[in-house]
Amino acid sequence: MTAATTPTPSSKQKTFRVRIKRQESQGTDPHWHTFDVPYRPNLNIISVLQEIAARPVTAAGEQVRPPVWEANCLEEVCGACTMIINGHVRQSCSTLLDDVLGDDNTLTLEPMTKFPVVRDLAVDRQRMFNALKKIKAWVPIDGTHSLGAGPMESPEQQEMRYALSRCMTCGCCLEACPQYTKDNDFIGPAAIGQTLLFNLHETGKKAAGDRLNVMMEPGGITDCGNAQNCVKVCPKEVPLTEAIAHVGRQTTVHAVKKFFTGK
Ligand code: SF4
Ligand code: SF4
Ligand code: FES
Repeated sequence: MTAATTPTPSSKQKTFRVRIKRQESQGTDPHWHTFDVPYRPNLNIISVLQEIAARPVTAAGEQVRPPVWEANCLEEVCGACTMIINGHVRQSCSTLLDDVLGDDNTLTLEPMTKFPVVRDLAVDRQRMFNALKKIKAWVPIDGTHSLGAGPMESPEQQEMRYALSRCMTCGCCLEACPQYTKDNDFIGPAAIGQTLLFNLHETGKKAAGDRLNVMMEPGGITDCGNAQNCVKVCPKEVPLTEAIAHVGRQTTVHAVKKFFTGK
């Protein structure tokens, strides 16, 4: 082997520390495991987890079970891999170690706190999907036959709806929202954004009244305290506060109409 290909002692030994919050299941006590992982440039957080899963031996030399996490698309589209990385909620597929490793050379991984833990870093986001069902986050069609060309949309409307459609139900906005807690019924900013997405759709707006009824219920839009944390953490830049303001106005008009007409 030539001198040029021999690894230097420093590159051979360079490791970083990973702290992972472990939990067997919802209701069991969480605990921490620490691992030392060899450094390579351009690792994403999922690659770090894969390194650990391939050799699940803690820094203290204890063999443990491999960590559990969820991932699917690996390109920040499905939202499944969302977790708390060094204190910030984000996707583990699109987060690079080099961007988050601080001076203490430590990466800390925790599950989101607003959803039940399935195991370790995997959480159950079913409440988000239930919220989408509740607000009828779909365009109702009359049968499966061709209905011909749909109604025209203005470019402005298309632009707004495109921005809202980027939501990947990752849950970052719910993790950051102080009003969304495990023991309340707040529907949360993501579902409010999707309410606007479908209420602006020329066919989707047929179910606008049903969606706004949900917004009027306990846990609806009035539970939003307008702290605006949601919009700051959304990785897809969904215009959540704009949507909340818009749906708030739609809900007020709907409530007044309902008061006078009964429907
Ligand atoms: S609105 Fe943004 S942060 Fe919230 S679930 Fe959708 S993509 Fe994630
Ligand atoms: S504006 Fe604040 S309270 Fe309302 S949904 Fe967003 S983070 Fe939650
Ligand atoms: S794996 Fe789909 S967003 Fe990360």
